[in-house]
Amino acid sequence: MGLTQDQLKKQVADAAIEYVKSGIIGVGTGSTANFFIDALGEIKNKIEGAVASSKSTADRLEAHGIEVFDLNSVNNIDIYVDGADEITEHMHMLKGGGGALTREKIVAANSKTFICICDETKYVPTLGKFPLPVEVLPMARSYVARELTKLGGQPQLRDFTTDNGNVILDVHGLTIKDPIELEAQINQIVGVVTNGLFAKRPANILLLGTSDGVKTYAKN
Ligand code: A5P
Repeated sequence: MGLTQDQLKKQVADAAIEYVKSGIIGVGTGSTANFFIDALGEIKNKIEGAVASSKSTADRLEAHGIEVFDLNSVNNIDIYVDGADEITEHMHMLKGGGGALTREKIVAANSKTFICICDETKYVPTLGKFPLPVEVLPMARSYVARELTKLGGQPQLRDFTTDNGNVILDVHGLTIKDPIELEAQINQIVGVVTNGLFAKRPANILLLGTSDGVKTYAKN
């Protein structure tokens, strides 16, 4: 019998713990990241603490007794561990299903190695089947929605407020052939805070949970 999606998530979260040596760890958001946080709690004496990519992650880390540092008080982070909604063989990711994309991208940008942990349902040939989240300043929501429509997408306002007090437009109907280009293009629209394409800074290591065990992919 195959493993459940939760068992696959736990498997990759446990595999990511092997990369945790010491210092301060960057921690992502979502159900897979939650399994990682729980596993991190077991080895918390090895590390100094963590930088969180959302309030919910910070709360969970603190509940395990792990110290949460403000990113501005930290010089560099060796590893950032997070899930994804989609990832390709090029390590380009689509993220933000949980709405934490901006803080995730900021913590990732400050980290030497991005370790993506996901179950095999997230591994796709082309990004875009999962609606692309775009975080937008509230006053710019209609303008940005019109601009995203011009790019061929169908934006839908999510009933959600981000940790930064902004809104999210989920863009349906995109087939993303050039994620690096589209990431830059969407970020150029005035009023966009950031979008859920993580292509300019892709993952360095992918730990993919499959029913045959964890598969490891690396990109230099
Ligand atoms: C959070 O904003 C997202 O970027 C998550 O990384 C993504 O939604 C994956 O979440 P799950 O691990 O719950 O699938």
